[in-house]
Amino acid sequence: MLIYRRSVRRDATLVIIGATLTHLYSLLNRQQPTQILVNNVSIPPMKNQERPIPLATIQESSNSHGSPNAFQSRSMSMNSDSDLSTIAPTTLLTHAPGWTVLENLYMSNGTFFIVTDTPQDFPKIRFMISKPLILENTANNIAAREPTPDDMAFLTVEEANERWGEVRPGRKNRISTVGGNTVLVNDPDQFLGHYYHFVGELFFGIQAIWYGTFSSSFNRFNSNPTPNPSAIDALPPIHRVIFARASSIAWRDFPGFNYYFLRAAFPSTTVEVEDDWEDRAEITATGKRAWRFPLLLLTDRSASNRGRLCGTVTQRNAAEAVAVMRSKTKEKSGGGKEANTDTNADMAAWWTPVRDRLFEFADAGHEDVKGLPKPRVAAVHQVEERNQVVLGGGSSELPTPRSIVITYISRQSAGGRMLTRISHEELVSALEELAERKGWEFNVVQAEFLTHDEQLKLMARTTILLGVHGNGLTHVLMMQPTRLSTVIEIFFPGGFCHDYQWTATHGLGIKHYAVWNDTAHTEGEGEGKPKVNYPSGFQGNSIPVHGPFVSKLIEDHIERRR
Ligand SMILES: *[C@@H]1O[C@H](CO)[C@@H](O)[C@H](O)[C@H]1NC(C)=O
Ligand SMILES: *[C@@H]1O[C@H](CO)[C@@H](O)[C@H](O)[C@H]1NC(C)=O
Ligand SMILES: *[C@@H]1O[C@H](CO)[C@@H](O)[C@H](O)[C@H]1NC(C)=O
Repeated sequence: MLIYRRSVRRDATLVIIGATLTHLYSLLNRQQPTQILVNNVSIPPMKNQERPIPLATIQESSNSHGSPNAFQSRSMSMNSDSDLSTIAPTTLLTHAPGWTVLENLYMSNGTFFIVTDTPQDFPKIRFMISKPLILENTANNIAAREPTPDDMAFLTVEEANERWGEVRPGRKNRISTVGGNTVLVNDPDQFLGHYYHFVGELFFGIQAIWYGTFSSSFNRFNSNPTPNPSAIDALPPIHRVIFARASSIAWRDFPGFNYYFLRAAFPSTTVEVEDDWEDRAEITATGKRAWRFPLLLLTDRSASNRGRLCGTVTQRNAAEAVAVMRSKTKEKSGGGKEANTDTNADMAAWWTPVRDRLFEFADAGHEDVKGLPKPRVAAVHQVEERNQVVLGGGSSELPTPRSIVITYISRQSAGGRMLTRISHEELVSALEELAERKGWEFNVVQAEFLTHDEQLKLMARTTILLGVHGNGLTHVLMMQPTRLSTVIEIFFPGGFCHDYQWTATHGLGIKHYAVWNDTAHTEGEGEGKPKVNYPSGFQGNSIPVHGPFVSKLIEDHIERRR
């Protein structure tokens, strides 16, 4: 029997009513799009590609560095393992709480198995995986989400051989390889169907850990003294994403940005969902068969929550992945002078390939600024070539946009977290006046009335993104990081949370101000960022903001940095 569970929810009619009030300069000076980075398997497959990895390598690669084997598993191999005389042990490439990149991870009957004789070289299982339950902030739920040996377990090589090895002469084991590179998302549907959580957390973290893992191993392990720049730029492709605990509708959000993002930014990636995962579990239910994943990134939100950065500092699961990525890209550059070049240009570069692919798809970003940051690996390569440090010196090295575009994402029809009517009107007229006076562009946008392409095109041009705390500010991910790029997030006075503040400031190197009516708060200046707080009124529809204050904040910010 066939059961169709997927409900098709394509947006029917989309109309632009986001009024473009002034529209200057933006159509002038069209540039060629900046170089687009595409995933490309351009490194030739190694010989002995699927050969079991000698134990000696495990020790070497189970520290925090990348492993040379990263290269071997980059290309898609569909070989059966049945001719392997020993079972390939698992190796750890990169780990942050909730973000673990492993080679040769096994699954049988729904349980993950790490095959190793040295389990002490791996992180604790609770920092890799959890019971995939809906998160609640109760002691019982927190305890119930702790993983058990049903979720993940260690096996020695001998135990693995006993379970899956020696079938009959000529058939050495019952392991089937799921070829290529996999991302497995072990989270239930609670957060997946939401643009911010899907793109701003899940894929932000995926890109960070992937970049951290492979951009560093390129340089570290590439024996070729003059590496091919295109090979350096390209990260290994992600062949499939498995939403192992969610249905095919659960990961799709209502505005339809999740599938747009996934298909546009990762066009070759296929998606499997819980039914597919259950198929694989069920047909290995005897425990005598297993699947081998040559390269798998395991992500788990609850496991990130057990990390210090996510659990106690930022409440952002991607923060764990970004921190490890930053430490690995620093480590790669040798800890010397370049190690201190965590400038804004650097900070933004790792996300550039994703944004570029989206811009390419949406035909956005033409009239952009020249010289936007490229992924750090490319930058480091330049450093080596010219024998000088090209990075460093703070945000002033970021390019200046040709024109200033202020985009206000209005929530006034959202039905929640809205400005008072008078605040909204005064804000719009103050910004209209500013834009008029300066010759800048000012847009008031209700994102729900723009198509995906239109939203991306606008964000590609936006210098100042402004709005009440909410999902629309996720578009900070699509802004080009120029030296003027800024997010202004309006909270009910006294309210604050890290969602967009962390994403902008620490994820992308983009300036962020939290505005409480007629005061602004920003990390690193004055009293710094506020403490996390949800006062009553936070979610309400009478949030005040003083329009002339916001206008002055923008004007001063731009004059100061230009
Ligand atoms: C992708 O790889 C192929 C084969 O190695 C190569 O010919 C092609 O130029 C590459 N494309 C890009 C965009 O790097
Ligand atoms: C397979 O998994 C199920 C559910 O976790 C469990 O009840 C069963 O005992 C497992 N079978 C084997 C052979 O381990
Ligand atoms: C907002 O700021 C303006 C300008 O300082 C002030 O007149 C107004 O009373 C403030 N509103 C609230 C609700 O604090």
